[in-house]
Amino acid sequence: MKSRLRAPPNSARKSTVRVKNPAACLLALLIFAAATWAQAADVGSIALAAELAKQEAIYKSRGDQVPEGYVIDRSLHSYTKALPGEFDFALGRLRPGDRWLDVGAGRGQAILDYYTPKFDMLHFEGRNERGSKAQGVAISIEDRRTSEWYEKAAMLPPNKIQYLASRPLREYSREELGKFQVITDVVGGFSYTTDLSLFMNKVLALLDMNGSFFTVLSDVSAHEGTSRPHYEGSPYLTTIAGVDGSEVKVCAWLKSISCVRVTCESKANWRPPIEAFHVQKICHEVAVPALTAVHFEAGTPPERGFKVAQ
Ligand SMILES: C[S@@+](CC[C@H](N)C(=O)[O-])C[C@H]1O[C@@H](n2cnc3c(N)ncnc32)[C@H](O)[C@@H]1O
Repeated sequence: MKSRLRAPPNSARKSTVRVKNPAACLLALLIFAAATWAQAADVGSIALAAELAKQEAIYKSRGDQVPEGYVIDRSLHSYTKALPGEFDFALGRLRPGDRWLDVGAGRGQAILDYYTPKFDMLHFEGRNERGSKAQGVAISIEDRRTSEWYEKAAMLPPNKIQYLASRPLREYSREELGKFQVITDVVGGFSYTTDLSLFMNKVLALLDMNGSFFTVLSDVSAHEGTSRPHYEGSPYLTTIAGVDGSEVKVCAWLKSISCVRVTCESKANWRPPIEAFHVQKICHEVAVPALTAVHFEAGTPPERGFKVAQ
């Protein structure tokens, strides 16, 4: 996280220059540096704690308290428009023994829309093979299930749809969740997590071989050509800096993960512009380059800065 450094108090500065003996001077400098570092770390962690508390309040918000920008009811149609084109085909190809995980599902509307005759009408090909369809698992930090969810769950075969709440993705083990052929994230964990590399590690551990992760980020540096942050005077919502401080585009960082095939699709006509990502797992030895969080500001979604770890 970004340290919000505060200048040391004058008295501390004066006490270090008064020391005459060089050894004592060095010792005093070391003590001073340690105290300053501890103070900066404290200030940084207090600031981060405040931002995380604000973020938590967004998750917990109900009724009119839900911030306008916190959209929790996107339809499957909205997912299809936001995600890479391949998502719609991948979902249509799933068979009854397969599994779809939606990370950051909100009220799970996209999963509900999948179990409708309309889905089969729009995906005529493979309708018979699709049969009772794949299992749909929704994960959300807060429980946003509606009566529609409970009614649909009662109508479908047992466990056809599952809703897991109260924990972020990182807190589930692979054994608990099992494997998935398709994982989606539409402005969910991928946009909200404070630890992007841990998040990707988790997603890729849950993906079956040749399985696909489809996601999207709003207001990021476009993978090709030049772009500018959407809001004047604000940075992109998600940024990654290389070890030398230079910009690493999210698409390039995803491509630096081993054992994946990545395609990135800029949708510049969206306001703010979005970038959609398709990450396909192609071998077992996945290695996600570690990132350190350097900035986090609560929001819908939050503003995050990461740095490639040394
Ligand atoms: C803005 S809502 C989006 C909901 C849904 N995808 C939609 O488009 O309607 C964000 C969702 O992401 C969830 N979320 C945020 N961070 C998460 C994480 N690390 N793991 C799992 N869910 C997360 C929230 O709990 C919430 O359900």
